[in-house]
Amino acid sequence: MERLETDLLVLGAGVAGVYGALAAEAEGARILLLSKDPLPSGSTPWAQGGVAFPLDEADLEAHLLDTLRAGRGLVDPAVARSILEEAPRHLERLLALGLPFHPEPTREGGHSRPRVRHLGGDRSGLLLLRGLLARLRSPVLEGYMAASLLLSGGRVVGALVLSPGGPLWVRAGAVLLATGGFGRLYPVTTNPKGATGDGMALAWRAGGVLRDLEFVQFHPTALPDGALISEACRGEGAILLNAHGERFMPRYDPLGELAPRDVVARAVHRERERTGGVYLDLRPIPNLRERFPTVVASALALGLDPFREPLPVAPAAHYAMGGVRTDLRGFTGVPGLYAAGEVASTGFHGANRLASNSLLEGLVMGERAALAALGDLAFPKGAEPLPALSLDPGLLPALREAMGREAGVVRRGEGLKRALDLAEGLPLLERPPQEVAREEVEAGNLLLLARLLLRMALLRRESRGGHFREDFPGEGEEAYHLEARGQEVRPSP
Ligand code: SIN
Repeated sequence: MERLETDLLVLGAGVAGVYGALAAEAEGARILLLSKDPLPSGSTPWAQGGVAFPLDEADLEAHLLDTLRAGRGLVDPAVARSILEEAPRHLERLLALGLPFHPEPTREGGHSRPRVRHLGGDRSGLLLLRGLLARLRSPVLEGYMAASLLLSGGRVVGALVLSPGGPLWVRAGAVLLATGGFGRLYPVTTNPKGATGDGMALAWRAGGVLRDLEFVQFHPTALPDGALISEACRGEGAILLNAHGERFMPRYDPLGELAPRDVVARAVHRERERTGGVYLDLRPIPNLRERFPTVVASALALGLDPFREPLPVAPAAHYAMGGVRTDLRGFTGVPGLYAAGEVASTGFHGANRLASNSLLEGLVMGERAALAALGDLAFPKGAEPLPALSLDPGLLPALREAMGREAGVVRRGEGLKRALDLAEGLPLLERPPQEVAREEVEAGNLLLLARLLLRMALLRRESRGGHFREDFPGEGEEAYHLEARGQEVRPSP
């Protein structure tokens, strides 16, 4: 088998991976970045709204308060403060790199002030990532996926990688997971096809802790094929109507269309059930074509004309608030293994992420985790690959359908149990990583996450943020996390 060696192996080429790699290569380290799909890959290029940066010192406190409020008691205030305090330095750096941020910040749900900086209208993530990739000198291997991690005496020392030329053995002084979320566990999602929770499964298999998987953010406004309609559209005047043509959001929340995302997603879900449909009217936005070119193109591609009529919308799986538990340096607790971006659970998002806080976290934590990993390189002798998780991908549609039906915006105990029975009945295999195909590993990773998510959703007998149970509609008095280590799932303060 072909062998490669590097200092830092970065899995995933979204904002956290690429920005982290840029920071690490500036230190003179050897970096190897792997991307499952052709660049620009990951969820970052699909992000429309922008990056939330505090406007100034005073706004930092307001941004913190908005983040805490949206996160429903599960944001770690020290983590949030530390990320927000570092934000201005990253904005300055990106501006110095020449990234074309629009000078006027925009407003999104849950933000008390307009503080979201966008690029190219609604092409924020795409232009951000392209700008970063253009400055990266380290090699990025496209079409390469880690099937399992290599271990030596409990330390992660690389990965067994599936590549177009066959399996590959990559030794590294440390590994940074930047593989994103698991939106593809759901039948309708705003995420790209590679969002299969790979990094979470790799970390769990190596002994890492997965936290808060039940908190799935459903974006309130996706087109029927899952194409995102940015929340910034509502920030700039778009309104939600039910099938009777009534504007309903003010009945659900005083902030109307700009209530936190979980509130809007539930309201859209209810009004669709009650009246048979929900529509987003983009016509109040004055410069729609220039400001939201991606949204306009997505609608036209479906034969819908946003200049003439409101667009049919529904919630779609969008973001995993949970993930691999890390500290403020991105360390997972497993020697040699770091994580940043959506794959990680730092404590910044709590039970419900505030809009556009994700790209910010990707920048801040991508850099921190890469630099922390560089300070912790080790090349012990010997390495063994862990088995890869694997499932027949032909079994995924049934799993996805059950997740959409039973573990979506609104959940109930008996439905969650039905979905868990189905997930536990599917054969999750452990196989030699050099013998599996990408699609089998992706399906295996999704099945693992489905099982853990459903167990957590059943255990959480309350409603909070991105987890709403009709049978337990109130928020419990005490906020707590749920963590999975191996097969054990338990609460943690
Ligand atoms: C959006 O543009 O609505 C997505 C932004 C985000 O998920 O933070």
